[in-house]
Amino acid sequence: MSPFQITRTLPEDATDAALRADVLAGLTATPKTLPPKWFYDAHGSELFERITTLPEYYPTRAEREILIDRSAEIAAATGARTLIELGSGSSEKTRYLIDALTSLRTYVPVDVSESALTQAGRALVAERPDLDVHALIADFTGTFTLPDTPGPRLVAFLGGTIGNLLPAERAAFLSSVRALLSPGDALLLGTDLVKDEQVLVRAYDDAAGVTAAFDKNVLTVINRELGADFDPAAFDHVAVWDAEHEWIEMRLRSRTAQSVKVPALDLAVDFTAGEEMRTEVSAKFREDGVRDELAAQGLKLTHWWTDREGRFALSLSTVR
Ligand SMILES: C[S@@+](CC[C@H](N)C(=O)[O-])C[C@H]1O[C@@H](n2cnc3c(N)ncnc32)[C@H](O)[C@@H]1O
Repeated sequence: MSPFQITRTLPEDATDAALRADVLAGLTATPKTLPPKWFYDAHGSELFERITTLPEYYPTRAEREILIDRSAEIAAATGARTLIELGSGSSEKTRYLIDALTSLRTYVPVDVSESALTQAGRALVAERPDLDVHALIADFTGTFTLPDTPGPRLVAFLGGTIGNLLPAERAAFLSSVRALLSPGDALLLGTDLVKDEQVLVRAYDDAAGVTAAFDKNVLTVINRELGADFDPAAFDHVAVWDAEHEWIEMRLRSRTAQSVKVPALDLAVDFTAGEEMRTEVSAKFREDGVRDELAAQGLKLTHWWTDREGRFALSLSTVR
């Protein structure tokens, strides 16, 4: 069996420093915000996996359908020998792609969640001993060094995770992805599409309350890592469609007027009753917008595939 390698590209205290900086900036801003990457400790990653199986959460099923239908075409179009996956999580859907890419030698999953990378990487090398799996614990919005592996390279960014970045962050992110690509390489991008508001809101506010638990998990992470005294039960999970920006916002609404201490930051934060703190944006896309955002960073959209109900799209783009 080929060894499974896992590399931490950031020192552990860099993660801590980044969490401190994000929490300080976010809790002292008006309105208050927290970036979604801090949902994903081991428990948050497990909760996300449960979300992907919920009846209301169509994106995973829709993207899986496209991967099942189109992976052979993606393999023919790219001939990829290295697959780099950003925000890979469980790599569950990626298996269709991995199995179709007949020239594939190396898989490089990149994620902030060490537990998700370890679980997915071990399972994969057990089933595909011919494949080198080199996982990277890294922040895909930062800079990180990829292992020196053979091209062509295919960079995959699935799950609609790009929608969690704000427009300026998306531009910076796509520009850094473009910098990873050489002529002959490609980007496979999953984007959730604009659709009926009720369908969207239900996908982010499920009846079983799993998304609510996922949303509140960020408070548990801050309690554990920064010694804060958030009471998750004192907040309600809210999902709102912002029609102007065409994105869903997940928010935590304070049930009462309360003060929360964050000792590691020497900070006390006051919430008014009903005050909402944004914890995630999930932008929804249209084909023209995706094409334009890619083109603005020197990437040319060459393929656009949707599931049969037109809910979700996968696009392939190459260096212009
Ligand atoms: C919405 S989930 C998608 C997971 C998987 N790709 C899928 O399609 O089911 C987002 C994934 O990205 C990871 N993630 C979020 N922000 C990240 C960041 N800034 N850098 C690296 N990974 C990140 C999370 O740990 C999680 O595994």
